[in-house]
Amino acid sequence: MAEAVGSLKGLMRRAHAPIYRSRMRVLVREIQRCVWEGARVLDVGCGSGALGRALMDDPETPAGVRVEGLERVVREGCEIPVTAYDGGRMPFEDGAFDVVILADVLHHEPDPDALLAECARVSSRLVIIKDHQIRGPLAQRRVALIDWLANAPYGVPCLYRYNTPEGWRAFAARHGLRPDMEHSSMDLYPPVVNLFFGRGLQYFVALEKRGEGA
Ligand SMILES: C[S@@+](CC[C@H](N)C(=O)[O-])C[C@H]1O[C@@H](n2cnc3c(N)ncnc32)[C@H](O)[C@@H]1O
Repeated sequence: MAEAVGSLKGLMRRAHAPIYRSRMRVLVREIQRCVWEGARVLDVGCGSGALGRALMDDPETPAGVRVEGLERVVREGCEIPVTAYDGGRMPFEDGAFDVVILADVLHHEPDPDALLAECARVSSRLVIIKDHQIRGPLAQRRVALIDWLANAPYGVPCLYRYNTPEGWRAFAARHGLRPDMEHSSMDLYPPVVNLFFGRGLQYFVALEKRGEGA
């Protein structure tokens, strides 16, 4: 039985690989527009660290951008330097980083407000959020399916709770953060997959701390 589950997870990972690569390319391109030379970046919930590594390795990324990770569940072979913590207060000073990234992490977190408050505390300028959103026909079901397909092979538990676009804006406002660059639709995946699971189900925002320009 354990062997069958193992092979199913392996199969799901292989099927998911091209989708993950496409998502990575788009995210690197979007995040590059928000960082600058020498920026210190914290990737909260970095998982394998592949996003931070791809950002640092991409020739279009401004020189000297350094990305490190913070994780509740540190994965073996993480591709960037990573700090483990228990999900509460982050082990960093206020404003220790220029930019904090939350890529598909908030919908896994039982207390997203507490997590965003910590991200805003340790960032001096920007908090970047990539997540899902409920928009369009059968959105809840479609997002839940892609969420499960993407996470089950890695054993990441899903809560199946997602914001609407209005919910995302209210969430940022509660923390005194102002949207700088926002996308309410993203072509994140290869074409057919994107039709069903990309576009209006994907949300991206770079939030500025009020009174501070990036
Ligand atoms: C769907 S994965 C995303 C991984 C990575 N950000 C990416 O884009 O490939 C969600 C990750 O968030 C982590 N996570 C969930 N809640 C967290 C928290 N409060 N603090 C740090 N990491 C968290 C999980 O352990 C998991 O590795």
